[in-house]
Amino acid sequence: DWTMAGYRAEAVRRIREQVGDAKVICGLSGGVDSSVAAVLIHEAIGDQLTCVFVDHGLLRLGEAEEVVTMFRDHYNIPLIHADESELFLGALEGVSDPEVKRKTIGRLFIDVFQKHAADVGGAEFLAQGTLYPDVIESVSFSGGPSVTIKSHHNVGGLPEKMGLKLVEPLRELFKDEVRALGRELGLPDRFIGRHPFPGPGLAIRCPGEITREKLDILRKADAVYIDQIRKHGLYDEIWQAFVAILPVRTVGVMGDGRTYDFACALRAVTSVDGMTADYYPFTHQFLGETATRIINEVKGINRVTYDITSKPPGTIEWE
Ligand code: XMP
Repeated sequence: DWTMAGYRAEAVRRIREQVGDAKVICGLSGGVDSSVAAVLIHEAIGDQLTCVFVDHGLLRLGEAEEVVTMFRDHYNIPLIHADESELFLGALEGVSDPEVKRKTIGRLFIDVFQKHAADVGGAEFLAQGTLYPDVIESVSFSGGPSVTIKSHHNVGGLPEKMGLKLVEPLRELFKDEVRALGRELGLPDRFIGRHPFPGPGLAIRCPGEITREKLDILRKADAVYIDQIRKHGLYDEIWQAFVAILPVRTVGVMGDGRTYDFACALRAVTSVDGMTADYYPFTHQFLGETATRIINEVKGINRVTYDITSKPPGTIEWE
């Protein structure tokens, strides 16, 4: 009989067999996939694993601290925390094309990761939390009639460039299976249940030019939105929810004064694997209350909209 406990034992065995006594480095993104991969690999080979967490300055509120605390302090997994926000945000200045953003982030990510991985010394393997849908999406894009919808930065490129072999223990799994494996490994429920977060981070939720000001506003609005969703007990029903800050200021009125601030869009979808998605049917009351909270609590936003596009034809992220 197939069980997750059995899968875990088999995966540990296969990792040991593949890696032997070599060193492995693993890029942690803060997401569920790379976290589960890291904990699984750590179980298999202990301190032969070092994790590198690249903070590109495009993370959500409190995210870097959460990841560092969990891995370094709770799991005792050797972790390099690379704060490279200056570098990334500097390179993204004035960039508004989505593919240029993605490629810039992907390229810098490789450079930075390589630099910090070199500090580990003599690693032979690179671990990635690649899932089955990542494998098929990237294969069909490159093999099909040359349509690249989006350049994902967690597949391809890195290992060849670094002369490393890949360890991808989640390659056969779908998201729900990765979550079950994470639970089996004892990762906290709240962490396992976290919505997916894309490698390029908030950059692709900030259409148009990325500025620190916009990122700060976006982080705060997103935190209020997620808090609302949790308070209403909806978090686990939703596959992914986030705020996008729009590249437009609009006129509003607050108290006796005129405001001229950013508009934002709330996004929430249900999905099985991210390949297709439906927008989430919030009640009007929820939407109204959330809009009021965001506008009252987040300086810099004076208009809130709700994105009711499903995928296809939309994508989940805005870029
Ligand atoms: P889209 O926007 O293509 O997103 O409908 C589908 C799912 O993939 C996530 N996503 C990414 N994840 N690197 C990632 O690790 C990326 O470059 C990337 N782009 C999109 C997105 O958040 C959604 O869950």
